[in-house]
Order: sequence, then structure tokens, then C-alpha cells
Amino acid sequence: MTDQADLAAVLHCPRCMRAGLALQRAGWICGGCNAGYPVLGDIPWLFADPQSMRAQWRGRLQFLVLSIEREVRTLRTELAGGVSVLARQRLELLAAAYEDHALRLAQILSPLDFAATNTGYETHLALRTRLPTDQGLTNYYVNLHRDWAWGDAENDAALALIRSVAERHVDWGATLVLGAGSGRLAYDMHMQCAPRLTVAMDFNPLLLFVARDVTRGAELELYEFPIAPRRLADHAILRSLSAPQPVRSGFYIVAADALRTPFAPEAFDTVVTPWLIDIVSEDFTSLAARVNALLRPGGAWINFGSLAFSQGTRAQRLSFEETLEIIGRTGFAQPAIGEQSIPYMASPASRHARLESVVAWCARKESAAPPAPAEGTLPDWIVLGDRPVPLLEEFKVQAVATRIHAYVMALIDGRRSIRDMARMLVEQRLISAEDAEPAVRRFLIRMREDSRKSGV
Ligand SMILES: C[S@@+](CC[C@H](N)C(=O)[O-])C[C@H]1O[C@@H](n2cnc3c(N)ncnc32)[C@H](O)[C@@H]1O
Repeated sequence: MTDQADLAAVLHCPRCMRAGLALQRAGWICGGCNAGYPVLGDIPWLFADPQSMRAQWRGRLQFLVLSIEREVRTLRTELAGGVSVLARQRLELLAAAYEDHALRLAQILSPLDFAATNTGYETHLALRTRLPTDQGLTNYYVNLHRDWAWGDAENDAALALIRSVAERHVDWGATLVLGAGSGRLAYDMHMQCAPRLTVAMDFNPLLLFVARDVTRGAELELYEFPIAPRRLADHAILRSLSAPQPVRSGFYIVAADALRTPFAPEAFDTVVTPWLIDIVSEDFTSLAARVNALLRPGGAWINFGSLAFSQGTRAQRLSFEETLEIIGRTGFAQPAIGEQSIPYMASPASRHARLESVVAWCARKESAAPPAPAEGTLPDWIVLGDRPVPLLEEFKVQAVATRIHAYVMALIDGRRSIRDMARMLVEQRLISAEDAEPAVRRFLIRMREDSRKSGV
């Protein structure tokens, strides 16, 4: 990244949402409210609560490393117990790979200042953070290999479908890719569709730091752990990740939240949402309005991916037809649409692969949409630490559930049966006699399953 004036031209303070940002020695500074945003590992860290987000991702990294260490201990315990020759080979391969994997991840994520925390595994497990709990550092880890190690077939198919729906969108101008992940599509578009500027934005620092290195022309080595390995040696493969060539100038990687973006209104000619619209916590109407606000009049919204809405209320789990209807209601002209079945996450080392019937559209902005609701920053009682924590209704419910969970867990002493424990819950009037035994059984099944999920 050299001249950052073109990036500064599209940035806006994600906290006050009123003024632009300027790059100074300490990082990006808001010209209106004076809020500061650091640059971590060369990537602008433009979250409304930058320190809190850094701490949250650091916590996730620490939890990940602790989980990997636990997995290695489990593997070594099984090895010590005596296993067949082939099983020994496989478990030793995995144990060595996981140990090295943890070191590599910590190295890539060193700008998060990993050494700054020292929290136990159980504490991490108990204290979920504000990031959506389903968004861990390695949720989309496999995308890194798809983007930069497995060859071009999947990436080429994605770009070809997008170009077919966007054929009348001649000038990509300033292009924003929301939820860019490890960046291959943003890179391919920047290299092949000739935008003046491309901003690849995501909130996952692991994906972004890898994208930064490979797009600059570096080669990285990272392990792949395929879902269904073809052969014993495929259980852990150290892969080399690289881009076809270093990215040309005008390509920027930014860490930020798609629901509170650090960009000026109407700053972009093109906004791309690849595999994003159905996984964010926000309802689609608000997200469409947010995309609309980022586009100049006449700009194009290019969407690509599946339409598997599974969050929110039943009414928010949209069909394709409802999605199109909402695009029309949020200021976009009828889009050009393409649908195609393409291979998805087909690792050459795995027997598992998906075939996805993806949808791509290119919708031109005709008019402004009603503004999307502002996504809240963390309240003061969380950020400042010296304010009373409000006794919210949802906290009351959680508190009762947590007390019951803790009570049941404390009853486990190696001697009591499910029936004994159920009887004690009834004596404490925590549950009816009829419900007690099935409830304890269900709870223990879940605890057992949770504790077996390796999560690495
Ligand atoms: C299904 S992945 C798709 C990644 C990439 N676009 C691709 O096609 O491979 C969804 C991406 O959205 C990112 N993401 C999810 N919610 C986000 C948010 N609120 N802000 C920024 N990025 C987000 C995730 O980190 C992840 O990289």
C-alpha cells in the first residue's frame, strides 16, 4: 500500500458518522470527533470500538490456541494408551501439525498483541463476547486454502458468473467488497475488472492478515485439515498459499464491521457482497438500505452466493422472490440475475465437496433508500467499566438458567445418577417432578457434546 489518499477519500468516522479520517502517525484520526483508529499490521482497524474489538479478537485467538493445545494433549494421551501402527502415524501427524498450526496462527495474528492476555480456557468458554458467537477466527479458515492454494477453478467460476451479470456495468470505479474474507474475489476483480480503487473489507483479522501478505506477493504456509481426508497423509497438509502475482496499486484491505462501515455516503461506484447477505445478523431490508447508502446514484450492487437465510424471525428467512422484492423497495432497479451450480470448497485432499446453486445479481441504484437503522456501539456500562450493569429482563432469565446449570454441574461427583440429580432439583423446587429427569438427561447430553467439540 503506497499512496493512501484514494483510500482517505472514501473513509468516514465509524463512531460519529459525520467526518472524514486522516492518516497521522498514531493512526487514522477523525477530523470531527477526534476519535482515533489504529493501524494493526498495516491494516486500518476501523471499528467504532477499536480497542474492544482488538481485545475480543485477541480473546478468540487465545481461546483458539488453548483449544488446539487441549487437542494435542488428547492426541498424546491416546498415543500413550497404545494404538495400531497406522493410527499412531495419523495421530502423530495430527499432534505435530496442530502444535505447529498454533504457532503459525499466533505469528500471523501477532498485531493483536497475543501476549497481553492470560485468561483460562474455561473462562473463555463461559464469557462469550460481543462478536457473533458463531464468528470464530477459523470459521472461514478453509476459504484461505480455496482462495490461495487449491488452484483457480472455483475462483474463476465465481468471477465468470459475476462478470456475466455485470456486463453492462462498464466502469467499476471505486469498488467496495463487504465481507471480503481472505480476499481472492476482491483481488480477481481488482486485477480483471479494472476498478480505480478496491477496498476489501472484513472483520476477521486472520483472513485479512493472510490476504495482505499473499496479495503483496508473499508465499505463506498454513495447514489444511480436510473434512474427509482421502489418505492418511491428507489428515494434515502444510499448504503453500500465494497469489498469481502481486496486486496492482489501488487495492486496500480494511478491518471493519459491515453493519457500521467506516465509509462516506455515496463513496462507491460498486459494492460487492459475496456470500454475505444471508449470514449477517441484520435483516435484509436494513442491509440493502446500507448498501444503497454507500453507492453513488447509478452505482451498482453486485451480490453473489447462496440465499440461505437462517437467522432472525421466520418472516426474515427470505425466499429468492422476497429478496428481489426488497431490492426494488430499497431504491434499486430490476437487477440482472444469473444462477448457476458451481463447485464449492472442493479440496483436492478431501472426499467431501459441495455443489452450490449460487445466485448473482447486479442492481443499479435508482434512488436513495430510507436510512438503515444505526448499528449501536457498545453501551457505556460495558465500555467504561465503572457504571452499574442494568438488570435487563434477558439477564434475569439468563441468570436463572446459569444458576440451574451451575447447580447441576456441581452435583456431578462421580457417584450420583441422573435420577439422584433430578430428585435434588425437585427438592430445590427448580423444576417439576415430571420434567426433572428428562431435563437433566438433555442437559448432560448437551454438555457432553459441547465438551467433545474440538473447535480447532
Ligand atoms: C461466508 S464468508 C464469505 C467470505 C468471502 N466473501 C468469500 O466469498 O469467500 C462471510 C464473510 O463475511 C465476514 N463477515 C461476517 N459478518 C461480518 C460483519 N458484520 N462485518 C464484516 N465482515 C463480516 C466473515 O468474516 C467472512 O469472511
